[in-house]
Amino acid sequence: METVVVIVGAGPAGLATSVCLNQHSIPNVILEKEDIYASLWKKRAYDRLKLHLAKNFCQLPFMPHGPEVPTFMPKELFIDYLDAYVTRFNINPRYNRTVKFSTFNVSNNKWRVEAENTVTGETEVYWSEFLVVATGENGDPYIPGVDGIDTFPGEIVHSSLYKSGHDFTGKNVLVVGGGNSGMEISYDLNNYGAHTAVLIRTPRHVLTKEEVYLGMSLLKYLPVRVVDILVMMMTKARLFMHGDPSKYGLLQPKQGPFSTKFFTGRTPVIDVGTVKEIREGKIQVINGAIGSIEGKTLTFENGLKRDFDAIVFATGYKSSVCSWLKNYEYVMKDDGFPKKPMPEHWKGEKNLYCAGFSRKGIAGAAQDAISVAQDISSILATTRY
Ligand SMILES: Cc1cc2nc3c(=O)[nH]c(=O)nc-3n(C[C@H](O)[C@H](O)[C@H](O)COP(=O)(O)OP(=O)(O)OC[C@H]3O[C@@H](n4cnc5c(N)ncnc54)[C@H](O)[C@@H]3O)c2cc1C
Ligand SMILES: *[C@@H]1O[C@H](CO)[C@@H](O)[C@H](O)[C@H]1NC(C)=O
Ligand SMILES: *[C@@H]1O[C@H](CO)[C@@H](O)[C@H](O)[C@H]1NC(C)=O
Repeated sequence: METVVVIVGAGPAGLATSVCLNQHSIPNVILEKEDIYASLWKKRAYDRLKLHLAKNFCQLPFMPHGPEVPTFMPKELFIDYLDAYVTRFNINPRYNRTVKFSTFNVSNNKWRVEAENTVTGETEVYWSEFLVVATGENGDPYIPGVDGIDTFPGEIVHSSLYKSGHDFTGKNVLVVGGGNSGMEISYDLNNYGAHTAVLIRTPRHVLTKEEVYLGMSLLKYLPVRVVDILVMMMTKARLFMHGDPSKYGLLQPKQGPFSTKFFTGRTPVIDVGTVKEIREGKIQVINGAIGSIEGKTLTFENGLKRDFDAIVFATGYKSSVCSWLKNYEYVMKDDGFPKKPMPEHWKGEKNLYCAGFSRKGIAGAAQDAISVAQDISSILATTRY
């Protein structure tokens, strides 16, 4: 079939892009591999997840949250919001369509997108003038290679498939990764009575969600350097009240939290209560990485050896773009992230765009959607009339 714009992925970024294109009356089709939109939120997020960012940073174009919505929304409320968004703007993605291959055809200047219809098994071909990549920063779950991992007899699960600590009561569980998912899953496991250890390799800022909210609000008026100093004064005062946090394994980077975010994309950890449990010795921190695994026994880089019944890898994701987009170099680097720096990251060559890769969460996806639709609209205006 032929259309003007093909959007790959029906997460918040793809949905918002479709809505913005519709506002400009530009025909578009969304292809989504799952049988539902926002599959990350509906299928791949743990039960206790709350949005870490305040509601005004978690909304899509043309539909701000109402005053009755709490500042920090639980996952269910955000899903309700997305449901209402899809209904209100009547978005109809084509589900069960996994895009497997996509190239730019130089003889007709069109994108050829091949999607597998996972219900019928057939390959469908779509042609479009514009292609928008909206498959998300959290494409494929990433688990690092570890020596002897296949000898481990217990359960190994990636954070994307972790739902709750319910099945881990009384077990020795290692959570690998000290980012937001790892820290929150550790907290959840401990709540369910699992003997929990968290393996942290990289120093991270640990902030409260209120501190992040304050910082993000101040960034509108103050340079990042100044915001970092202000916010770090608050976190220092809070954390050091109980002694130096590095004593129990929480190492802090030298660079401030918002500069770290801008320059490395690494978000500060937003504490849901994990720090207190760590301080009280309920959750153990191990610094470094796993050296090797032999059966139940894990040997860490620092020489420590311990037995575990289960391992949760909260080691993040890899962008999946380069696996299906043959001409990714028009917009992406080899790692599947935009090659142009912000704020021009969303526009590639040959009418290729990406939405949702600015490492700025839902607010970033919403902004990309507006920019992409605006740009396509102006190109169509100059070429058609
Ligand atoms: C645990 C967790 C918590 C988070 N909390 C927050 C938060 O509080 N606030 C915030 O702003 N952000 C948060 N984020 C970031 C969040 O991922 C994004 O804000 C948002 O979901 C990004 O939307 P997206 O549309 O870019 O990507 P996604 O939501 O990942 O959507 C991409 C879609 O593309 C589909 N797809 C992928 N490959 C293909 C293919 N080849 N063919 C067809 N379809 C495909 C997927 O099935 C998926 O539905 C969180 C992320 C995680 C993992
Ligand atoms: C997608 O596939 C699922 C089963 O995998 C099926 O229940 C659903 O009806 C399909 N949806 C569409 C729109 O084809
Ligand atoms: C590219 O477009 C030309 C002209 O429309 C067509 O003949 C050719 O088959 C296309 N190539 C592919 C790989 O689809």
